[in-house]
Amino acid sequence: MITLALSKGRIFDETLPLLAAAGIEVLEDQQRSRKLILPTSHSGVRVLLVRASDVATYVEYGGADLGVTGKDILLEHGGQGLYQPLDLRIAQCRMSVAVRLDFDYASAVRQGARLRVATKYTRIAREFFADKGMHVDLIKLYGSMELAPLTGLADAIVDLVSTGNTLKANQLIEVERIMDISSRLVINQAALKLKRAAIRPLIDVFAHAIANPADAS
Ligand code: ATP
Ligand code: PRP
Repeated sequence: MITLALSKGRIFDETLPLLAAAGIEVLEDQQRSRKLILPTSHSGVRVLLVRASDVATYVEYGGADLGVTGKDILLEHGGQGLYQPLDLRIAQCRMSVAVRLDFDYASAVRQGARLRVATKYTRIAREFFADKGMHVDLIKLYGSMELAPLTGLADAIVDLVSTGNTLKANQLIEVERIMDISSRLVINQAALKLKRAAIRPLIDVFAHAIANPADAS
């Protein structure tokens, strides 16, 4: 049996076509079911539903053999001990700095102002601003980062941006693009050795499906 850890929502939805390319169909509707272990059409494969930020932990400790998780989460929580063979190119977005429309970020940077930055991604933010030689005070939040500049909690946020609609809806503007983000296949190293015969073909099918998106039905 191989166990794949996925998070509900976009990672689950965007992994389904890759599983389909391997002839694997998840047999429960993740939106409706309360089950956390989902069977698939392949008797040797099951899916665990975990929080997005817990996927790497499950795989690292062998609670799952493999998983799909964002580069943001791997950078933030560390991907130690995980084999990361593939960028699946799903859940694509970018990590950016954003401020209120009326905040002059460029001049704050020029003047060496000490900015207050709210984010869920403190590690990524700390490294980014340190590389720029900027001193910032980081404020850790767990969601709704957009509220921080609007309420005076922070001057700037570091958050994920895709369409830009969330920023726009909250009168915020992207002022720096830190990095592109997508999701990776992560594999427990022991599982890769012990269950190679089952896992290797999956990696190969996923790699083929990513390289040939037109083949996906
Ligand atoms: P948790 O539920 O643990 O708080 P989360 O809310 O960040 O995590 P998701 O929103 O499902 O979980 O995001 C999962 C991954 O999808 C993120 O780690 C990121 O890599 C990517 N992602 C996040 N927001 C977007 C977006 N707007 N567009 C595309 N990809 C995104
Ligand atoms: C993410 C991110 C932004 C939004 C950006 O939130 O935290 O708020 O997407 O996407 P956009 O640029 O297309 O508007 P998400 O929708 O995942 O909500 P959550 O993290 O609060 O679950």
